[in-house]
Amino acid sequence: MRKIHIFDTTLRDGEQVPGAKLNKAQKLEIAQQLAKLGVDVIEAGFPCSSPGDLEAVRGIAQQVRGPAIAALARAVKEDIDIAWEAVREAQRPRLHVFLGSSDIHIQKKLRSDRSKAVEMAVEAVKYARSLCPEVEFSTEDGSRTEYEFLCRIIEETIKAGACVINVPDTVGYALPEEYGDLIRRLRESVPALDKVLLSVHCHDDLGLAVANSIAAIRNGADQVECTINGIGERAGNASLEEIVMVLKTRAENYRTTTDIVIKELYRTSRMVSRIMNIPVQPNKAIVGSNAFSHSSGIHQDGVIKDRTTYEIMKPEELGIKQQTIVLTARSGRAALRHRLAELGFSLDAQTFERVYGRFIDVADRKKEIGAEDLQSIVEIEVSKVPETYKMHSMQIMSGNKMVPLASVTLERDGEVFTDAATGNGPVDAVFKVIERITTTSGKLIDYDLKAVTMGRDALGEAMVRVEIGEVIYSGIGSSPDVIEATARAYLNAYNRFFANGGAQKAQSPAGEKE
Ligand code: KIV
Ligand code: ZN
Repeated sequence: MRKIHIFDTTLRDGEQVPGAKLNKAQKLEIAQQLAKLGVDVIEAGFPCSSPGDLEAVRGIAQQVRGPAIAALARAVKEDIDIAWEAVREAQRPRLHVFLGSSDIHIQKKLRSDRSKAVEMAVEAVKYARSLCPEVEFSTEDGSRTEYEFLCRIIEETIKAGACVINVPDTVGYALPEEYGDLIRRLRESVPALDKVLLSVHCHDDLGLAVANSIAAIRNGADQVECTINGIGERAGNASLEEIVMVLKTRAENYRTTTDIVIKELYRTSRMVSRIMNIPVQPNKAIVGSNAFSHSSGIHQDGVIKDRTTYEIMKPEELGIKQQTIVLTARSGRAALRHRLAELGFSLDAQTFERVYGRFIDVADRKKEIGAEDLQSIVEIEVSKVPETYKMHSMQIMSGNKMVPLASVTLERDGEVFTDAATGNGPVDAVFKVIERITTTSGKLIDYDLKAVTMGRDALGEAMVRVEIGEVIYSGIGSSPDVIEATARAYLNAYNRFFANGGAQKAQSPAGEKE
């Protein structure tokens, strides 16, 4: 079995998704989970893009053990210096230097020519190697690069000291046969590739990122670059969980193995979706909420008789837990603790109490609390930023022949503030009240609402992205009442703003003090 190295770029290419920018603590939380998942390399960021990213990558390099920690840099000295500054304290630092190698990139973007591009790449790799023992070089837009030139730039950068060569399909243009062929031919034409790792990095513009990565593996790629849930620039990157499960489920075809801890896949997917505020489509392979649910009568009958009739993977192997006990409003702390342990959560006493309080609140309004409900409650409570404003209570009056009216009471430092507003709809009305009490206004740029489970009493989970000042803050909230879930998500985004220093800018709360 040939080992395939998994290079995770969720925190770099994935973070390029508009509005998914993370702070240092959030990046660290995801990086710790990626280490638990067993990835070989975590590309932690692009440190020269902002001082905040430099700090976040440095934090990961200092604290996360196990995988190599990579930082991206353009093929220029200043970028490489900053990237090195960020990763130098890692157990295994890696500098990832890239340069456009296709004529389109060289002529239109770099306004240069092929010879100068090779020179630039070689200089950059040599410089990076003078700092760091592990240097990866990426031929950006590799799949559209003229073949002879691609071989030349690869040969030269290996000579300059690169120990990983990555040939990306940057614009997601390649077809599986073609890309597989490219990898096979490169191995034949550039014997020096046998001394280094050959890597691929595929984008999903034509929906072929995973197929292209698999074709490359079949034809000799050693490393795949991918992201959790397939997030990334434009249509995204190849999805880590899909690549890993193809290789595992069809092991006899590929005869390869990875070090990924399969049972951490689902949890990692949920965590990334929650923290980056990017919902996973229900029909997403491997981790979508419908990936293991059978709805037609014929399928249900088959699965009850024997799961293998319609299932090619075992959900529990991916960490998707089946429910053993049913939680209701009458369940005590012990039952909740037991169920949380079954789901793999171990919470400190303070977080447990918060989760318990929220659980009782939700269970009072919903008959049974299932695994997904509990997962949603825990994930929201665990990731909570300090709550400058807490939701105390709210009331909505709405109908098709009346102006919707919302009254909301928020708590700040033990004092409660109430206000009311009308709006175009109940969501608009509730947002207006939150803005009034917090004396802060934002622009809603994204709003997603989904039911966590099936059924009329499902818990609603809302995700919002709100622009306050020039920064986009994400927020998440859940409740059996979808307007309340939305209000909680909105308030969560505002609390992120305040936690980021917005509190100093905020005036005293408005509204009637009680
Ligand atoms: O898509 C791409 O080519 C990249 C490189 C920086 C590796 O993300
Ligand atoms: Zn990319």
